[in-house]
Amino acid sequence: MVKRKKIAVLFSGKGSNFAHIVNTLHPEEAEVVVALTNNPEAEGIAVAKEADIPLEIVDSKAYESRETFDTEVVKRLQYYAPDLTVLAGFMRILTPVFTEHVKSVNLHPSLLPRHKGLNAIEKSYNDAYEEGGVSVHWVTSELDGGEIILQKKVCKEGLSFEQYDQTIRQIEKEVLVEAIRKVL
Ligand code: GAR
Repeated sequence: MVKRKKIAVLFSGKGSNFAHIVNTLHPEEAEVVVALTNNPEAEGIAVAKEADIPLEIVDSKAYESRETFDTEVVKRLQYYAPDLTVLAGFMRILTPVFTEHVKSVNLHPSLLPRHKGLNAIEKSYNDAYEEGGVSVHWVTSELDGGEIILQKKVCKEGLSFEQYDQTIRQIEKEVLVEAIRKVL
């Protein structure tokens, strides 16, 4: 029998991508063995509770450096021994303490290498290209800089910012799940 793959999901806010992973993959295709957030107020906490998924809260405000925070996150993740860790709206810059110990993929709402970092949807909408899009990539210590696993383009023509934003938020969920399937 093929052993079911275990994944960890990290989020910081709403957790709609986390919820989509739970609804599509968990637990048959991949078991979410832990969800972890750096934000004790994150709405996504309710998703973990509803689905009975073990939850770890590591409040980033309580740590004096990125390295001490990352050390604690790595320790908590290793306890659950996931095959893959998925950053789904995890709004933290990660240090080598994390990237050298955790095999992880990240969802980013732009066509990388365009618009790394924050506010990527707004920046993509306002740039000179006809298309924006989403990317899932391997996580390295270079912010939003690891090898691309999957990308999908979205044509901006005729879309208001709200429509573009909504399209991105819909498409990113499909691309994230497809990328997880691809790497597992
Ligand atoms: C998503 O749009 C995701 O692409 C983005 O944060 C949002 C989280 O939404 N991630 C980044 O910008 C990473 N730099 P969610 O909490 O509802 O999943």
